[in-house]
Amino acid sequence: MALRNRFTEKVRSFISEDEWLVARENYDPEENLAYESIFGLANGNMGNRAIFEEGGVRKTLPANYINGVFDKSEAFMRELANTPNWVELKMYYECNPIGIEDCKDIKDFITILDMKKGIVCKHYIVCSSDGRETLIERIKFLSRVNTNVGTHRTYFTPLNYSGLIEFENNVDGTITNFIDFPRFRVKHLNTLDINDMEGMGCYVESETRDFKLPIGTATAIQIRNDNEEDKCRSKRFSRFGEMATEFFDALCEEKETLIIDKYAAICTGRHFDNVYEACKKQLTLFVNNGFEKELKAHFNAYQQLWAAADVKITGDDELQKALRFNIFHLMSTPNPEDNGTNIGAKLIHGEEYGGHAFWDTELFTLPFFTWVFPNIAQKLVEYRYNLLDKAKENAIANGYKGAKYPWESADTGDEECPSWTIEPDGTCYRCYVADYEHHVTSAVAYGANRYFEVTNDEEFMATKGIKIILETARFWVSRCEYVEELDQYNIYKVTGPDEWHEPIDNNAYTNHLAKWNILKAVERIGHYEKNNHELYTHLCEELNLSKEEMSEWVNVANKINLKGTEGLIEQFDGYFDLEDVTISEWDENNMPIAPQRMREIPKQKTSILKQADVVMLMFLLENTFDMETQKINFEYYEKRTLHRSSLSPSIHCLMGLRVGDSKRAYDYLTRSAFVDIYNNQGNTREGLHAASAGGTWQCVVMGYCGMAIDSDGILHFKPKLPDNWGMVSFNIVWKGTPLHITVSKDDVVVKSQDSIPYRVNNEERKSASQICKDCIVKN
Ligand code: BGC
Repeated sequence: MALRNRFTEKVRSFISEDEWLVARENYDPEENLAYESIFGLANGNMGNRAIFEEGGVRKTLPANYINGVFDKSEAFMRELANTPNWVELKMYYECNPIGIEDCKDIKDFITILDMKKGIVCKHYIVCSSDGRETLIERIKFLSRVNTNVGTHRTYFTPLNYSGLIEFENNVDGTITNFIDFPRFRVKHLNTLDINDMEGMGCYVESETRDFKLPIGTATAIQIRNDNEEDKCRSKRFSRFGEMATEFFDALCEEKETLIIDKYAAICTGRHFDNVYEACKKQLTLFVNNGFEKELKAHFNAYQQLWAAADVKITGDDELQKALRFNIFHLMSTPNPEDNGTNIGAKLIHGEEYGGHAFWDTELFTLPFFTWVFPNIAQKLVEYRYNLLDKAKENAIANGYKGAKYPWESADTGDEECPSWTIEPDGTCYRCYVADYEHHVTSAVAYGANRYFEVTNDEEFMATKGIKIILETARFWVSRCEYVEELDQYNIYKVTGPDEWHEPIDNNAYTNHLAKWNILKAVERIGHYEKNNHELYTHLCEELNLSKEEMSEWVNVANKINLKGTEGLIEQFDGYFDLEDVTISEWDENNMPIAPQRMREIPKQKTSILKQADVVMLMFLLENTFDMETQKINFEYYEKRTLHRSSLSPSIHCLMGLRVGDSKRAYDYLTRSAFVDIYNNQGNTREGLHAASAGGTWQCVVMGYCGMAIDSDGILHFKPKLPDNWGMVSFNIVWKGTPLHITVSKDDVVVKSQDSIPYRVNNEERKSASQICKDCIVKN
């Protein structure tokens, strides 16, 4: 039976075909937290976890996060502040709560995420101990059109009883972060005011405790039956501490359906001067438009997003769905209108890592946006530019020059990675990554450069990107230490991508990327020297950059200790002296199991890696290593990589494909694509894995479709589709021109309005310039 047929007609008509649905078909409270992330919704401005609206659930982490709304207070670092819970709507019969855990039995349970339309729908019958059965159905969405509003609609049907149903609509300002982790629990907001918004409903005004950023949260309720009769009786507003509550009731006949729409508007001082007035205006508009009109506009917005971002694969239905799941959450998260925000490592679906941006953005998620939504990519690279001055202060504070980006970044550009954390067993743990994990700085430069190569956004490169690339190069030069006897520059005390060995000297990844960063800066400024002397002089003056300094950069870059470019590359000084341990067992999700030896000696004394390191290096700097070298290193490190970071599998898929190991590549593709659907890292409850979502897209487009930019700037496709795939088709925007690409096993067809040169397996082609109805890329 099609999944939507499990819903009644009223809800079914809103739901898409099965291929677009992710379903939860059994209620096991142990799975609630993971599903709150998996079914979490985001609309570019905010993210809301998929809690059960009626409350009363023991395992739950209600959360509404807003991009850019951070606070520190007693937390270890500034973190995305959980804002008032606007979702709750409790229901009672004769004072007995009605809900998923307030019952004796649950029948017909199904909840779905409809990725095509950006909605979550629920259907279940709750049976009380006195034999009453109530059908609850719901639709929830955060509007992608008016990104300050969200809503849910409940269809409430008493199947075998009649009577007075009471409702309690709450906006809960008592909310905290880390509700389920007592030691970390922090309340980030002060509640300033609670009122009924001039009779409209419930209003809670809060502010962040540190920066006093105002946040307004307002809701309004409408309740009627199928015949459009207003059923609302005896509405009463109350304050309970920091909670705004509205009670109301309705008389309901057996089998009659009550339709309860809960509208919410959430406005912050980031975008509005007066959050109360803004909430009032948005809420009034929303209520006047009505649920269905807003839903229709929301569906249209998702239709446009999918027209740009869908990647269609024939012949692999499960993978197709998983890929769409990753694309859905990825494209729903960042704010296309705000260059003061970025993408958290857990998207905006959970609070682990505080909503901070890592190198995950530039190397894993930014490529998707750069190729598919260049307007969003622009905001993401501008975010780094806006924090360049902070990165310069950060370099100086650490004794270096230029710009050193923080390992974890929130709104201010300060380092947000804590130096100390507390383990679940209560022990304090000194965390060194902020001190040593410096490779994020070259990733920022890499991202800005790649953004320019794909979009040709000259304005960005000339005014912003070039400064990022120059100042980060300057940092690396100051980070290198000269060793006279060897006439070589070393980089001491770093953490590479593999965080299980730290601090170490001369990490191959860090050193190669430092060299790349420095030489890219020299190349880019050299280009302006030749082609735009005025800009060149201006930049040299503004950045206080001389010819001497730049020739010193070249000297340093050419003498950086690279740990080799041929044969087996040692990950860092002394890595080959560690006890060699390899992986020999995999779990039911095909994830490697930690070898016994890792339980006997500290993991840093073994050769086992947390995640791709040398393999990641080879993926990024392909042309530096010949194929034989890439094969040798993939073979060697793959056997020693535990993939305890979700960043790792996609890179092993991409590299597996490159070195011709298609079997292992496909295994890694599935590990990456299903990381949250199967919860194969075991931590989906904490939020979704942004990097593996972006990495999965790269696996399909860069890996299986073999899309790359040649050194002469031409787009090149070398497809390697697996046997069971028929075709793959997708859209990109190449240097401002929308392209529609269809890849089959032995050919690639590129359609565009303009004639574009490209290559397929080294053969020169030109896209026929034609009216391209598939190239509907929203830019
Ligand atoms: C990984 C890092 C990653 C971070 C955030 C860590 O576990 O080791 O590479 O940047 O998670 O995703």
